[in-house]
Amino acid sequence: MAEPAVLLTRELVAEAMRALDGRCELDLYTGPPEAMPRNELLRRAKDKDGLLTILTERIDDELLDAAGPRLKIVANHAVGFDNIDVPACTRRGILVTNTPDVLTEATADLAWSLILATVRRVAEGDRFLRARRPWIWGPQMMLGHDLFGKTLGIVGCGRIGRAVARRGFGFGMRVVYTDEARLPEAVEADLRVEWRDLPELLSESDVVSIHVPLTPQTRHMFGAQAFGMMKPTAVLVNTARGPIVDETALAEALRTGEIFAAGLDVYEREPEVPQDLLGQENITLLPHLGSATIETRTAMGLLAVENLFAGLAGRRPRCLVNPEVLDR
Ligand code: DGY
Repeated sequence: MAEPAVLLTRELVAEAMRALDGRCELDLYTGPPEAMPRNELLRRAKDKDGLLTILTERIDDELLDAAGPRLKIVANHAVGFDNIDVPACTRRGILVTNTPDVLTEATADLAWSLILATVRRVAEGDRFLRARRPWIWGPQMMLGHDLFGKTLGIVGCGRIGRAVARRGFGFGMRVVYTDEARLPEAVEADLRVEWRDLPELLSESDVVSIHVPLTPQTRHMFGAQAFGMMKPTAVLVNTARGPIVDETALAEALRTGEIFAAGLDVYEREPEVPQDLLGQENITLLPHLGSATIETRTAMGLLAVENLFAGLAGRRPRCLVNPEVLDR
């Protein structure tokens, strides 16, 4: 039997590449590090049985039309799948998978890297020294805020939100959360988190960390109104998806001191980082590194490959986003 034809839109870590070896007819995009050009993606998707995609590829009706009727599965190498029109895939009987769980702890660590960096002005201090500016220890030099005894506000208390919350207790913080729906009381008690609606959480929290998926409801969830409710001493950290934060409003809130600082790993028009943000001292900016550890990217790659071959073989993939395709 002919091997399945698979398009891989970016080279994965070596172990995951080995897991693909000899099991499919692999078409690997090896172009420049920018996202695969759209017309090349449309052209090379044609007649593929499977697509192994990363989050920069938009998978919509146009792409599915270009791929044609052989396509069985889109295996996304990410937990987030806002780059994929899932209903469009479901309508055509195409499986969609993602890579949850394996990146939870790494992403929570990175959220905490940003929390500490913003609250204690770590990146700013580093930039300051590299600029070779004269300095001497001083009682008022580069003051941040304490975390001990303060309130951590988790927006989206799923897997990553909970992992960020757990770390908060190690720093002596109290943790409040908000989400689409309140968690069962027993789960709240077990996690030691307290429910708040969003306005309450914003006005109470010293650190606000975003962990909701990008949906039409969460797009620009953080805009001028939300910043207006936050404390002037508070910091905002976003390791979820860029468009959840209105960057123009954030730049203004940072400039006017409406909030103390922010830490971003993701951007509204990624990979573009607006000059308005680059020009501010009280923001720490990272290039979408949430899951970027060797161990985690290996686990993500292997899981994406496992999902892909399960779908191609007609088995139920471990991380199926649209089970309706198999259940109907
Ligand atoms: C994801 O998986 O959704 C992250 O943003 C990249 O690791």
